[in-house]
Amino acid sequence: MTATPLSDSVNPNPVKPDAARERDRWTASADAWDRWADPMADLADKLNRPLLDAAGLAEGDRLLDLASGAGEPALSAARRAGPGGLVVGSDLVPGMMAGAVRRSRGVDGPAPAFTAADMTALPFADAAFDRVTCRFGIMFVPAVEAALREVRRVLRPGGKAAFMVWGPRAGNGLFAEIGDVVAAHLGEDGSLDPLFRFAEPGLLADAMRGSGFEQSAETDLTPVRKAPAGQPFWRAALDMSFGHRLGGLDRERRGALEADIARRFDAQAVDGIVPVPSHARIVVGW
Ligand SMILES: C[S@@+](CC[C@H](N)C(=O)[O-])C[C@H]1O[C@@H](n2cnc3c(N)ncnc32)[C@H](O)[C@@H]1O
Repeated sequence: MTATPLSDSVNPNPVKPDAARERDRWTASADAWDRWADPMADLADKLNRPLLDAAGLAEGDRLLDLASGAGEPALSAARRAGPGGLVVGSDLVPGMMAGAVRRSRGVDGPAPAFTAADMTALPFADAAFDRVTCRFGIMFVPAVEAALREVRRVLRPGGKAAFMVWGPRAGNGLFAEIGDVVAAHLGEDGSLDPLFRFAEPGLLADAMRGSGFEQSAETDLTPVRKAPAGQPFWRAALDMSFGHRLGGLDRERRGALEADIARRFDAQAVDGIVPVPSHARIVVGW
């Protein structure tokens, strides 16, 4: 983990998402999240481990995962909490959890329970959990302070919450390149902007302290994935993060869009390898 200085590309006026639009977006891309969940599981676990470490999750803990989608990191958390623990996964959009429910049936060992829940109005008692996690979800919630107050309410005194958010767009090559091509083909619709809402260091940590958390800390992760040139390593990101824009495309238009994405990444290859930088941030509050 390395500390990263504030990038020039951080948007000083981050866009607030729109609740109805976010619900539609995730409903439209739910099938893609289910389809890609297993092929992406190893990559996902590389991010889950530091997030669960930051949350301080230990065997026997009760953990609530918010915006679980297809089960990340709820499934990893259940393995760590063990048979004496309890993991509850939740999401605003029930369809997004279809993959999570399917995957939890196949696990050998403790599995999470999943339930639909808007994180701004959680259906749980005060102090019901020791830990709360949320991987790449809080940025899509317009009423972020309401969500953070709910998180604080369902945490026991001394409990910890850990959020994973994206750093700046410029540090996230996969989204940046695909986003540029999608905008060139289909027009700019702004739906990528909420991803980078907490790109500015300290922004989410400040919101946590303003919502009942006494302390907060953050750590940046800046891994560079080495992807093989000529391979569609970018297709999962295209389907999962832009799927809501691709539904109406015929084969020809989709083919042209994908060919442009492939050309962009192949042009960056060095000795057959495309470096794909990413920048995530873990923000912890207690
Ligand atoms: C990028 S996905 C993240 C899924 C998963 N945590 C992961 O990292 O793979 C964002 C998720 O946030 C969920 N979401 C958006 N607004 C929400 C809200 N108000 N309450 C709970 N979940 C929400 C969406 O339905 C979607 O499943």
